Amino acid sequence: MEYQLNRIRIWIEDDYAALSKRAADIIKNQVDAMPNTVLGLATGSTPEGTYSELVRLYKTGAVDFSKVVSFNLDEYFPIKKTNEQSYYYFMRKHLFDNVNISEANTHIPNGEAEDRVAECDAYDKKIASYGGVDLQLLGIGGNGHIGFNEPSDVFVAGTHHIELDASTIEANARFFASTEDVPKHSLTMGIRTIMSAKRILLLASGSGKAEAIHKTIFGDITPKVPASVLQLHPDATIILDKEAARLIVGKLS
Ligand code: F6R
Repeated sequence: MEYQLNRIRIWIEDDYAALSKRAADIIKNQVDAMPNTVLGLATGSTPEGTYSELVRLYKTGAVDFSKVVSFNLDEYFPIKKTNEQSYYYFMRKHLFDNVNISEANTHIPNGEAEDRVAECDAYDKKIASYGGVDLQLLGIGGNGHIGFNEPSDVFVAGTHHIELDASTIEANARFFASTEDVPKHSLTMGIRTIMSAKRILLLASGSGKAEAIHKTIFGDITPKVPASVLQLHPDATIILDKEAARLIVGKLS
């Protein structure tokens, strides 16, 4: 089902597979219409299905990434590219190694940077040099974070270095041998960087995201729920499965 709430378009799909297919179709259509699209990409469990559907579409010849440019939202800091939990490694495994995107066109904040401030400044400049992101894919934290913009008293504008929330470290510990192994910091696009994207596509799956989704769509616009800022975006789409939509379905018509 599709709903329009103020400026946000909301799709509620039966399950994760349908959500992933819907998201991949939107990305495919964007790339078809504009082959040199600048894609903003996310990592984590949520977009894995979208990436495997895009790989499937690519293998059938339905989509061509040869001119696509990509910028990932974030990376742990510090982390080596060879670490299997780095987002650098994740993107290669789930997308880049399986489609015809040119490696030179892919960008991820450098978790090995010696000067993290310079790395963040350079990242924003590089995005601007490509004319900005055309379509930004986002997941959402159970605490409402987007990228690694954690709940805070202020919205931080550009790409920056941030200390991860205890709840985020806990949530991401499932990927590491132990909670202690989760890096405590990350480099992340800021809220201005994300909001500058021409289109935004946020995905959420599972009941653990329901409260964050409810606050994002119906709550106050506040840095305490970073995703709530999307209410101000002129072209934001949110795709949910039934579990993630469980607290909002009754309020949509
Ligand atoms: C990842 C990112 C994060 C995740 C969020 C949800 O690049 O920016 O904001 O999207 O933590 O993670 P999952 O999908 O693993 O629930």
